[in-house]
Order: sequence, then structure tokens, then C-alpha cells
Amino acid sequence: MRLFLDTADIDEIREINRWGVLSGVTTNPSLVAREGQDPDQVWKEILEEVPGDISLETTEPEADAMYEQGVGLSQKAPNAVVKVPMTPDGLAAGKRLIADDIRINVTLVFSPAQAILAAEVGAYIVSPFLGRLDDVGSDGVGVLRSICEIYAVQGYQTNVLAASLRHPMHIVEAAEAGADIATMPYDVFTKLVKHPLTDLGLAKFQADWNELERSLKGEA
Ligand code: G3P
Repeated sequence: MRLFLDTADIDEIREINRWGVLSGVTTNPSLVAREGQDPDQVWKEILEEVPGDISLETTEPEADAMYEQGVGLSQKAPNAVVKVPMTPDGLAAGKRLIADDIRINVTLVFSPAQAILAAEVGAYIVSPFLGRLDDVGSDGVGVLRSICEIYAVQGYQTNVLAASLRHPMHIVEAAEAGADIATMPYDVFTKLVKHPLTDLGLAKFQADWNELERSLKGEA
């Protein structure tokens, strides 16, 4: 399962990219707006920093304008993936983008039925939102499992990207369900690496090593 960051903050992206495990980035209009800068500049820095798939989201609601905007976004870099919403216009625009060999990510997906539509249109990625489903008392991981099962049974090639992930167990459960990609905010990514026993073990190794060095130097 590939790991993506769900952010438009270039400092967060540079920090996680340093670890060597970052395969891509997802952005959305809210995340880009949070940066308070020219979106073109924000996207440019991200596209240059990470060679993997970078999702850039359309904001035009109507199919023709969304298609034109999507073409423009796709031309920013070869690693750009165009996000379209799970709406009739999003599907129609997405179909035309795919016909132009542009890879699309169908976003705001909350049900297996919507995920079937994304696969049938030929999307490169489908993005079910787990956390937002949990927020309304639904079962985000259950919906993800169902989508992964349907895609396996049907032989759909669309990549399942588990989105709106809120804690490390969401990532573990997404991997168990068979998701191809998990995207998460910076704070969740940093939690993946942490374990108190790792910290305790490292402190003990360091203390024992320092003690050996002191004794070899004849220090008390
Ligand atoms: O970017 C799509 C999705 O991951 C957003 O998540 O945390 O706003 O529910 P969130």
C-alpha cells in the first residue's frame, strides 16, 4: 500500500519526503486555501518536490468548465492527477479527461455504489472518505472493505485510495482491507513511526553504549 500525504504545506511534505516512504500527495481546495498563497505556486512546489502522483482538484461545478480546468491542471506536470467530484458533471468531465489520457481521481466518495461508478468511468483512483463517514455514525472501514471486495471480484483496475484518515489504525485497517493507497494528514503520518517501546529501547541502547565508552576510557 502506497502512503500519501494529504496536505498542501510544502514544509510538511519536505519533512516526510526525507523519510523515503512518501509515494504521493493529495490536495483539495480547503487544503490549498489554508496556505493563503497563489495555488499555482503551491502546486508547482509540491509537483517538483515529490515525483509520485500529486492530486490537484478541480473547482468548476459544470462539466465543460471542469473538463477545461482539468486539462489545465494535468498540464502542470507529468505526475499531476486531476481530482473530480463524484457528481454527474464530475463523471462526465472525468470521462472526457480519460479519453485525453489524463489520469483522474474521483473524490468525495462515500458508498460502494459511487465507487462502482468511478471504476466504470475508468478512473485511475477512487477516494472513499473514511473519517467523514465515521463522523456521521457510519462505518468508514466497512465501506472501504466493501469497495475493495467489489473491485477484486469485478477485476476493476482503479486504485482504491483510502482518504480522510484520522489515526494510525485507519492506515492499518486500510492495508488489511487491500487499499492501494492511504492518504493522511502530517500529524497522522508522524504518529505511524512512534512507539513508546521504541523510545525506551533506544534510550537504553544509548545509555549502555555511553557507559561502555566511558569504561573503555577508564572513566569512573
Ligand atoms: O483530501 C481528501 C480527504 O482526505 C479529506 O479529509 O480530513 O478533510 O476529512 P478530511
